[in-house]
Amino acid sequence: MKICTTIAEIRAEVASYKSADQVVALVPTMGYLHEGHMTLVRRARAEGDKVVVWIFVNPTQFENPDDLAKYPRDTDRDLALLRAEGVDAVFLPDVTEIYPEGSETIVETTKLANMLHGAVRPGHFRGVTTVVTKFFNIIQPDVAIFGEKDYQQLQVIRRMVRDLHMPIRIVGQPTVREEDGLAMSSRNVRLAPEDRQAAVVLSQSLKAAETVAATGTTVGDLRRIIAQTIAAEPRAKLVGCDIVAAETLAEISGPLTGTTAIMISVEVGGVMLIDQREVTP
Ligand code: PAF
Repeated sequence: MKICTTIAEIRAEVASYKSADQVVALVPTMGYLHEGHMTLVRRARAEGDKVVVWIFVNPTQFENPDDLAKYPRDTDRDLALLRAEGVDAVFLPDVTEIYPEGSETIVETTKLANMLHGAVRPGHFRGVTTVVTKFFNIIQPDVAIFGEKDYQQLQVIRRMVRDLHMPIRIVGQPTVREEDGLAMSSRNVRLAPEDRQAAVVLSQSLKAAETVAATGTTVGDLRRIIAQTIAAEPRAKLVGCDIVAAETLAEISGPLTGTTAIMISVEVGGVMLIDQREVTP
């Protein structure tokens, strides 16, 4: 596995793949890898001939410096996991390689980035689209794999790629869950044992909403079911619940008519967790 820390190194490595006509599949990450990331890597293997992973804790997508400082990191363990998975190359740049002194250009999806989750985390998606554009320009993959767990992020990236005519296929990979249903996330390690148990309430509330949606219901009822299920767990606080049309992320109301995405943000023991589910009437 080739480990590259500079733009020049990763460009030379990818150029050697492309000169052999090999399809390059990219997995973007911020490290501290878990089984969810490994599923993205396996999907990349199925989609391409060569798999490239980037590990970069992107400072511009954290609006809270404390959150950035607390973001867990373990590069040696990450590299061992990627090596065991047969990854071809890892790009591991430092912050000044990606944001050199005087960097001022940003990329933003002006509507999708500022609604829903983006409205409570101003600048977050702008940081994501800016860094993803940089890495797409540096690596120039044929296909890139993103988790469906960050549902709004996936839709934002799809819109950016479409609007800017980027010749990259975006693949969404379903969420990987712990045995009890908790969506895997690097943040889960910050949960105290009793909060970890309580965190199961996120997937339970979405499951309850899905069951009701299948029998035909209204957006108001879905909202009530989510709120009631979360309220029954004293350690959890519902921070956001967005019920939107799956593709446009437009808020909907009244009876469910088409594929609908439910996205929730829940604070458990001071840790913000997210989960999502697509439901159909
Ligand atoms: O989903 C993530 O881990 C990050 O937002 C991404 C896409 C790697 C950009 O920093």
